[in-house]
Amino acid sequence: MSKYPHLHPSTAEQVELDAASRITWLKRPRWIGYPRAQDILAKLEDLVDHPREARMPNMLLIGGSNNGKTRLIQHFAQRHPAEENPGAEYMIAPVLYVQAPPTPSEPGFYSGILNALFESVPTSSTDAKRAQVIRVLRGIQLKVLIIDELHNVLAGSSVKQQQFLNMIKFLGNELQISIVGCGTGDLLRAVSVDPQIQNRFLPELLPKWQMDKAFRQLLMSFERVLPLPRPSNLHESMLAAKILAMSEGTIGELSILLNQAAIYALRHGEEQLTAETLNACGYVSPSDRTRLAAHV
Ligand SMILES: Nc1ncnc2c1ncn2[C@@H]1O[C@H](COP(=O)(O)OP(=O)(O)O)[C@@H](O)[C@H]1O
Ligand SMILES: [Mg+2]
Repeated sequence: MSKYPHLHPSTAEQVELDAASRITWLKRPRWIGYPRAQDILAKLEDLVDHPREARMPNMLLIGGSNNGKTRLIQHFAQRHPAEENPGAEYMIAPVLYVQAPPTPSEPGFYSGILNALFESVPTSSTDAKRAQVIRVLRGIQLKVLIIDELHNVLAGSSVKQQQFLNMIKFLGNELQISIVGCGTGDLLRAVSVDPQIQNRFLPELLPKWQMDKAFRQLLMSFERVLPLPRPSNLHESMLAAKILAMSEGTIGELSILLNQAAIYALRHGEEQLTAETLNACGYVSPSDRTRLAAHV
């Protein structure tokens, strides 16, 4: 039995180091699995395995800002890294991650894809860029194209939005690839305007967290990565309710709050998190930040 049963084994290895080393360790990017994420990851794997056909399945990953969309999709992309393809013109890359351009610009989107693959971007026309994108994506044998921040297309007129979404649909058909668009609820509303697109893109939601078993499990998972020697029991009802109220239901805020509280504890020689640590650590809730901003 481990000396620190409340910690993940890799965290337990850290817990006897000095505070500064533990703080550095705490700040590293980390992946914490939770059932909804595992569920979506499994569906994303199905897209990679799907045989090429005329109508490929697509997905929209929908959630509020700071609730884990990018982290989840990048975790998936990292599972499918590009591979060398000796003797061939292109490497093999089954999954490609790009961000939508800040406005629904077709040439901007093509440049983003070519840049992500370190390919030269034709300067001539949009047609030339499109042809180059199709050639390169075919060359790398792409299966799944991820487009993060797809709600950026909403920055344009409804005609432009529609054109951009049609262009994505065209790419999917032409290359027989699946497209995964990530964005906020506004994206889901924009897509629902066109039934043709709506029924080709199945939404998967990352809703805000609320007080339930899944949230308490998430707190236990977070506790396992905080290098504190004594159990905080974050999942117990009083602390869990306090943490949910402070972080207002997004995993991004939860992560910031717990890191900030753990750093405070480490600097003050405290061995676990308590309600007092959460109050003292200097964390300001998102709505209090908004309220503060209104006063300057
Ligand atoms: N599965 C996870 N494990 C650990 N931290 C996470 C996870 N998902 C999100 N986070 C934290 O939340 C922050 C915001 O997540 P992000 O994916 O950027 O949100 P979104 O793309 O929905 O705006 C991340 O920077 C990370 O610190
Ligand atoms: Mg994001």
